[in-house]
Amino acid sequence: MDNCRRCLDADELARAGRFYFEPDSIIYTAAHWLLRNALAEAGDLPAAAWRFATGPHGKPRIDPALRRDALSFNLSHTKGLVACAVTLGAEIGIDVELMDPRRSSPEIAEHFFSAAENKLLRAAPAERRMRTFFRLWTLKETLIKTTGEGLQRALDSFSFELDPVAVTFRPADVEEAARWTFWELAPTAHHAAALAIRQDMPRPLRLVIKTLRIDGDGGITIKQQHEGDAVPGCRPK
Ligand SMILES: CC(C)(COP(=O)(O)OP(=O)(O)OC[C@H]1O[C@@H](n2cnc3c(N)ncnc32)[C@H](O)[C@@H]1OP(=O)(O)O)[C@@H](O)C(=O)NCCC(=O)NCCS
Repeated sequence: MDNCRRCLDADELARAGRFYFEPDSIIYTAAHWLLRNALAEAGDLPAAAWRFATGPHGKPRIDPALRRDALSFNLSHTKGLVACAVTLGAEIGIDVELMDPRRSSPEIAEHFFSAAENKLLRAAPAERRMRTFFRLWTLKETLIKTTGEGLQRALDSFSFELDPVAVTFRPADVEEAARWTFWELAPTAHHAAALAIRQDMPRPLRLVIKTLRIDGDGGITIKQQHEGDAVPGCRPK
């Protein structure tokens, strides 16, 4: 962990120090180390040199003074998992969630999901209902994290279909729907994850997925899990 802390800036170190529980501090530190290293690989600056600013609606972005405007990133962390996504020339959003049955009740679904999503959830076989809940949840999160709006956006102003994944907007906006590409990832048996990209001019994408494991002694192992043409909606193994 000391190696990770070395590339964080003063704000990040201060935030890492404010967590009450040590595992939360470790997850935060690992996420920001991962982000800085992913940016270093994509953007030709050392990990410690990146500085951040806040974009519209509070979404973190790269400090415009670094003149790396085409790069966009997003982070997500949950118990046991950190995810970071970086892209060029598009907006990106990522979400990971621990699939905890206590967080997937019908009441929560009624509150957060659209009528069509609730219908889809009720139609899912009982043994797949929790996974379906978290598929919808992570997909919805990726959309509001891509735009940066978070909960400022009404969650019933868009709705997901699954198998294949597709989004529709309310009021209907077919052109806007065509700007979005979504992927579902399967990082572990207990976590759901999704990734979204919004491009003004859709073009082919390549997807590289790396997993990072933090050992008990703080050692970090990175493994390349997938690299290939990014087929929308696919679930890379
Ligand atoms: C930040 C937000 C967009 C997501 O929060 P979250 O799901 O708790 O957290 P995640 O771990 O996925 O993401 C946190 C990261 O997103 C990034 N982030 C912060 N504000 C953001 C914003 N406005 N847009 C996109 N990303 C944001 C940050 O990098 C943050 O990590 P950091 O604090 O270590 O820098 C939150 O404001 C939000 O609106 N959450 C909605 C939760 C919800 O009820 N969703 C219902 C889905 S159906």
